[in-house]
Amino acid sequence: MEKKTFYITTPIYYPSDKLHIGHTYCTVATDAFARYKRLRGYDVMFLTGTDEHGQKIEEKAKQAGKTPQEFVDNIVCGEGGILDLWKLMNISNDRFIRTTDDYHVKSIQRIFRKMYDNGDIYKGAYKGKYCTPCESFWTESQLVNGMCPDCGRPVHDAEEEAYFFRLSKYAKPVQELLESGTFLEPASRVNEMINNFIKPGLEDLCVSRTSFTWGIPVDFDPGHVVYVWVDALSNYITALGYLNDRYDDYEKYWPADVHVVGKEIVRFHSIIWPAMLMSLGEPVPKKVYGHGWLVIDGGKMSKSKGNVVDPYLLADKFGVDALRFFLLRTFPFGSDGNFSNELLISTINTDLANDLGNLVSRTTAMIEKYFGGILPAARAADALDDELKTMIGELPEKYAAQMDVFQPHLALEEVFRVIQRANKYIDETAPWILAKDEANKPRLAEVMFNLVEALRISLICLTPFMPESCDKALAQIGAQSCRGWDDAVYGARSGEIRVRKGETLFPRLDMEKTLAELEAISLPAKAPTVKPVLPDVTIDEFAKCDMRVCKVLSCEAVKKSEKLLKFQLDDGSGTPRQILSGIHKFYEPEQLVGKTVVAILNLPPRKMMGQDSNGMLLSAVKEVDGKEELHLMILDDSVPAGAQLC
Ligand code: MSP
Repeated sequence: MEKKTFYITTPIYYPSDKLHIGHTYCTVATDAFARYKRLRGYDVMFLTGTDEHGQKIEEKAKQAGKTPQEFVDNIVCGEGGILDLWKLMNISNDRFIRTTDDYHVKSIQRIFRKMYDNGDIYKGAYKGKYCTPCESFWTESQLVNGMCPDCGRPVHDAEEEAYFFRLSKYAKPVQELLESGTFLEPASRVNEMINNFIKPGLEDLCVSRTSFTWGIPVDFDPGHVVYVWVDALSNYITALGYLNDRYDDYEKYWPADVHVVGKEIVRFHSIIWPAMLMSLGEPVPKKVYGHGWLVIDGGKMSKSKGNVVDPYLLADKFGVDALRFFLLRTFPFGSDGNFSNELLISTINTDLANDLGNLVSRTTAMIEKYFGGILPAARAADALDDELKTMIGELPEKYAAQMDVFQPHLALEEVFRVIQRANKYIDETAPWILAKDEANKPRLAEVMFNLVEALRISLICLTPFMPESCDKALAQIGAQSCRGWDDAVYGARSGEIRVRKGETLFPRLDMEKTLAELEAISLPAKAPTVKPVLPDVTIDEFAKCDMRVCKVLSCEAVKKSEKLLKFQLDDGSGTPRQILSGIHKFYEPEQLVGKTVVAILNLPPRKMMGQDSNGMLLSAVKEVDGKEELHLMILDDSVPAGAQLC
């Protein structure tokens, strides 16, 4: 009989920066679900990847002095990058899609055209508030005090030709989908979607941009690039071969069983994505699960706050399995969870070192001591065993019931109930007393057998969470060949049971010492010092500064000066302008000839080393690690000399 399929995905992450513990949380959870389904005998397709286009990446690449492709290649494939992180975290994805992959690009162009041909994409005008220096459109509600939210400068009404997707046409079927059954979970997110987005009226969606180029060109109108979310969401089908020849298992795996996503992108997955699929005439995914966020002290993790938690650092310090386990044991999957190092250390100590680790080491040590590592078949049961045996027997079903509804923390709760009960059983049965009398051997063997079974079945359930440690522990109790889902039945083992005590799987951590060590290694991640913003100026005061774009005609070092460079500039007036600037420490003259720079022209003229300077070149300056860093403002050469900054 053909295996049942299960298609599960993570969001495709932006390679705009290194990924942090929040991204790791989502991928590890998805990995545990995928591994669980494989354990249950499903033919699983687990997809993850990267969302590589868009203006933000284009800008980041520019700042880094790289092409966008070089920039994303480094974050995705470079050392310590995204692929390395997933390898380290033991992620078992079957495919990895990058939206810059050729086959994906071709599919997106075909998808766009298909929706255009069926009338769901049309050309219109995108109206909004435009910030010229940032080249960005904003909506009224995005403005801060009426100004550009990015740079704080004035914006003006503007229009841009763009393609639109008829999202409004799908409002009704999408609402029906959201209200039907369990398409979107947790259920609380359904009302949020309906009340915040559907009820106020779904507007058509702008799905092309002309203001930047780092995207997939619309093939029949190449000045336009496809909106990054249309490009990104489609990854879930292009990675199966939809409208491309690279893969051919779309029929086999689509519709996806579940898209696991963070709560902030539920809107895209539960409204826009189904509408796109409806337009394409394709089935919608069976489920979108919107998980909560990991927060720090109740607030968002962010680079600017300096509180981003590095998964490499934690995996190195505590081990990959302990980190995977902690993430899924501690935080209810659908809600936000407050991450802290204390919580991580105490979870490792309580659950892994004390409860699980102790059960493994006590059980294996006793079987070695009392039976030379081989459990005899002659055993004597007692009513004292019943409760533990019943709990072991019920565990797989209770665990599966939680895993099937994406509640890993509750599935783990069931497992640890059995582990804790087994530890208590050791105290109740007191094997060290039984061992004193040879006549008690069958009884002692039964006690040991029950402990091994409690462990074996718990470890089968824990394998999706901690694959490597469970392999090791199952080997210690000699159960390597009795660890499938069908073996997760009390007494399923046949033949001799050989046990061998091995390394300590989860050493106990000293809370104070470990916290201090973490503090020491994560110090560089502390918030950077930023100068406070200066007191307000009025727009009129600002407008008095006459700043213009200039071309560097010539540049030379000023004799006898270490610092000064002398520039002749074309400021658009037709007469060269001389400016002196103390930037020789940062630039050699030949680096600057021909460049497009910015100068303030109406500062009073001054003499420097006996030479006239009529204005000042603008630079970006910052102190980094106690040293001043200076970058001359260098603009795109297409900006003409004399253009005024406003
Ligand atoms: N590229 C889009 C997704 C496109 S999917 C078609 C994107 N990328 S992202 O890099 O910002 O990753 C977002 C996802 O990372 C979230 O949806 C969530 O799954 C995960 N997380 C990022 N920060 C997180 C936390 N602080 N906590 C938990 N998960 C978080 O959005």
